[in-house]
Amino acid sequence: MRRALSALTALVSLAAVAACSPATPSTAPGPAPSTLKDAFAGRFLVGAALNESQFTEQDSRGVPIVKAQFNTVTPENILKWENVHPRHGEYAFDAPDRYVAFGERNGMFIVGHTLVWHQQTPRWVFFDASGSRVSRDTLLARLRDHIQTVVGRYKGRIKGWDVVNEAVDEDGSLRKSLWLEIIGPDYIEKAFQWANEADPQAELYYNDYSVENAPKRNGIVALVKNLQAKGIRVTAVGLQGHNRLDWPTLAQQDSTIGAFVALGVKVAITELDIDVLPRATRAQTADVSLSAAPSAGLNPYAAGLPDSVQQALAKRYADLFGVYMKHRDAITRVTFWGVTDGDSWLNGWPVRGRTSYPLLFDRAGKPKPAFDAVIRATERPAFVP
Ligand code: G3I
Repeated sequence: MRRALSALTALVSLAAVAACSPATPSTAPGPAPSTLKDAFAGRFLVGAALNESQFTEQDSRGVPIVKAQFNTVTPENILKWENVHPRHGEYAFDAPDRYVAFGERNGMFIVGHTLVWHQQTPRWVFFDASGSRVSRDTLLARLRDHIQTVVGRYKGRIKGWDVVNEAVDEDGSLRKSLWLEIIGPDYIEKAFQWANEADPQAELYYNDYSVENAPKRNGIVALVKNLQAKGIRVTAVGLQGHNRLDWPTLAQQDSTIGAFVALGVKVAITELDIDVLPRATRAQTADVSLSAAPSAGLNPYAAGLPDSVQQALAKRYADLFGVYMKHRDAITRVTFWGVTDGDSWLNGWPVRGRTSYPLLFDRAGKPKPAFDAVIRATERPAFVP
């Protein structure tokens, strides 16, 4: 009995040592972890953007995947201004409340997306009843009320906010949005200040797409430096990660993450997907206002994805995760923009009605070869430039 007990004690202490040691990626291919959140435990969180049928638990295919695979969630649409604050003085918190409750029930790190954006913001925010632009002071007051109300309601529950989304143009200058034109460039610092006041513990992010292109990245580096110089709290830069098979290069991805690490901020990959369909526009962009006419040539895989492309997608995901693994100390989370291929915004943008394959789970909810490639990323050497 005593021998059995001491063997048990030895086993328990071995397990405790193993649990405390930093995870060392094994080089011998053993059984792969079965979930994304387990595969990257101790490195970064892994998440997905949820639509309403997911956080209300109606999507019987998507929900089990979300619960099993992810430990952080982002709302794809319901916290955008037009949804949460559609009319002056009128907030719509039913859906966001259900989203936050879903995240809490499942013990997830809950993200808020997004407080300030040039898209999906109703006209009443910027214009008065006669159609004239409101004054700087009026718009500042509206912005402050919005941030205090929305962030305040979920204080301590939504753990990180995309405070400002897509405020920088492709050339690195500030986007000529109504926010900039009516308030001036300080709308960005005001938004961060008010978000900080409303929840001093929440992580605060600047979030954008195509940051890997040097002019835009340089503009965002300058913006973050400027905020830091003014003592404004910015926790992380969100790299949306709306990628293609051939963009960005791994070197671009690596140096972009490195540029923000050098500023002392964290990095989150916030909206990851990889578009395998032909380019419909020349620009490398995720600008939701773009649209292009449908044509058969732009929708080549309507009947299914050829194996060669499936494998190329898996390799591309593996390569990108190699870069994320290199920067695992700086990366807080990697969030996919959708759960299954059928959920992706890329089925409708910039061409309506395409059949897109950008994620790790297929339309039936089955893991794709890309899933296996990602889950094994910790076993491979990280990216070396
Ligand atoms: O809910 C309405 C529905 O009632 C209506 O019948 C239907 C008609 O078009 O529209 C539905 O709303 C759509 C909504 O997605 C939900 O499906 C909006 O029109 C459509 O504009 C909206 O698109 C979203 C887009 O942002 C604009 O907000 C996409 O789902 C969402 O994936 C996309 O996400 C953005 C990030 O927020 C920021 N970064 C880029 C990323 C991809 O564009």
